[in-house]
Amino acid sequence: MKSLAILILLCLSIQMFVCTEETFQKNQRILRELAESDETCLYALLDAGSSSTKIRLYKSVCRRTSQIPQLEALNLKNNEGKDQFAGKDKIKIGGRTIGLSKVAKNEFTEYFNNAFQTINDMKAFANLQTIKPFLFLRATAGLRLLPQDDQEKILSEVRNIFRQQQDFLFLDDNWAKIITGQEEGLFLWLSMNYAYKNIKHQNQQFDPSKTVAVIDIGGASAQTAFYSQSNSNKFLDLPEKTRVQIYSNTILGYGNDQIIQAVLDKNGFESCFQNSSDGLFNQLKNSTGLNVTVIGNYDFVKCTNIMLEIMQINDCNYLNNNSDKDCSKNSKLNKLTDQKQIIGASSIFYAKDELYKKFNMSGDTIRLKEFREKVQEYCKQDLLQAQYDENNRLFTSCIQMMWVSTFLIDGLGLLNNEVTAIMKYENYNVDWSIGSLIYDINTLQCDYIDIGECTDKIQIQDANLEREESEFKTPSSSLVINSFFSLFILFIANLLV
Ligand SMILES: *[C@@H]1O[C@H](CO)[C@@H](O)[C@H](O)[C@H]1NC(C)=O
Ligand SMILES: *[C@@H]1O[C@H](CO)[C@@H](O)[C@H](O)[C@H]1NC(C)=O
Ligand SMILES: *[C@@H]1O[C@H](CO)[C@@H](O)[C@H](O)[C@H]1NC(C)=O
Ligand SMILES: *[C@@H]1O[C@H](CO)[C@@H](O)[C@H](O)[C@H]1NC(C)=O
Ligand SMILES: *[C@@H]1O[C@H](CO)[C@@H](O)[C@H](O)[C@H]1NC(C)=O
Repeated sequence: MKSLAILILLCLSIQMFVCTEETFQKNQRILRELAESDETCLYALLDAGSSSTKIRLYKSVCRRTSQIPQLEALNLKNNEGKDQFAGKDKIKIGGRTIGLSKVAKNEFTEYFNNAFQTINDMKAFANLQTIKPFLFLRATAGLRLLPQDDQEKILSEVRNIFRQQQDFLFLDDNWAKIITGQEEGLFLWLSMNYAYKNIKHQNQQFDPSKTVAVIDIGGASAQTAFYSQSNSNKFLDLPEKTRVQIYSNTILGYGNDQIIQAVLDKNGFESCFQNSSDGLFNQLKNSTGLNVTVIGNYDFVKCTNIMLEIMQINDCNYLNNNSDKDCSKNSKLNKLTDQKQIIGASSIFYAKDELYKKFNMSGDTIRLKEFREKVQEYCKQDLLQAQYDENNRLFTSCIQMMWVSTFLIDGLGLLNNEVTAIMKYENYNVDWSIGSLIYDINTLQCDYIDIGECTDKIQIQDANLEREESEFKTPSSSLVINSFFSLFILFIANLLV
């Protein structure tokens, strides 16, 4: 009986190993074939954030190069110069945008079929119908907030669906995974410096002090990432032995939706919402998920102090609307000092956009001191039922703008700075997608094609870890997991003897 069990376990483990080897070789063959033909390669990345999953499609020459992959956003502009897919690049079900963590079990297939349809439409529009895109999914704070069990259930649904797609290359389960907030910040940094051509050209000597810094306020978390010699917590190793010292930080809870919930937990939350002379009110959910009735009663000082309390800035308070006031000395966050340029993404852009529209202002730049004065002016205006009916999102515009200005001024110390608040730079979306792909494509290249001779691997290391320790991670992670599994089985078999 015992020996039978051992035999079965042994067979299983050998099979696992053979299986892994086979998959590896199959993938290697596919990738080598692609790399040798000089065709265009397409990369689809699904960016699963807390409030939506965005569809990103990039192309590159498949030619093998283990340096920085040269990626291009597809040009999806129509004859009128408008983005043909504006508003269609977020996955919808029944016309409603929904985040991956809120998709019901029986809706996954429909959800992703809608995404695949959009990708096919984009391919057709760009005349690239015949190309099978690589398929990646990277999930962020929305999934990170869930219990581990739920995270794994969702990822396993995603992988099951992805494996069945004939029109896509999904070669490794690891291509659908959750990334950390620090990676999110780092990849946004990489994306933007790539888009701004600070690191695009391989042979160009590149000067880290000329790179741009990034701030991203998402739905659930907020990230900052910037070059820093004194405070770096990450090393980004780029080809040609270029090491960049980066400080990358993420704070779960500092995203726009989470901040609204946190404010609603506090006394005086009405102070972050506009007054309404015709009695407009709304029900919003606080952190316990319970409805709170909100009747706006805007008060700059009260609202700012609530936000300072949320940021645990305790020894500094606002007494009036003095526009030179700044509590950042008491903030525990690392400040963005001496940056050449700062790019503001996501909610920073949306807040700027809404505010500038209101006051008929133009430009991409916000000067924080002026921005905050304008925000006060905006928030002091009444919000009427009719305006709300036309655009429901207006109810939270004021609190969103207040958070952007308070986080940037009092949290990050940018009172006297400028931030470039944009959604696109040239054809590039201002998000972490391209940075993540640059990293993933380079890794593919090194793991499957240039095995053993990859000298240009892009690596992310903790600033306080020795290089040797992270070298260990080099083989494709599924291979490592499977070999561990084999060892584990052998270990169990031994115990049985
Ligand atoms: C959320 O709102 C409910 C209902 O107003 C309230 O009872 C509860 O205390 C609030 N939760 C927190 C954490 O403030
Ligand atoms: C909470 O508020 C929403 C929006 O007004 C409403 O649709 C929902 O029925 C409310 N839920 C409860 C439990 O009151
Ligand atoms: C906005 O500003 C532009 C340029 O100054 C002007 O032509 C336009 O009439 C203004 N629109 C509104 C609604 O004030
Ligand atoms: C600040 O407060 C003063 C005095 O209450 C007021 O006159 C001024 O308009 C306020 N400034 C802003 C930007 O709201
Ligand atoms: C909002 O309404 C309250 C109560 O009517 C009033 O005291 C307050 O001054 C108003 N705030 C603004 C910004 O108009």
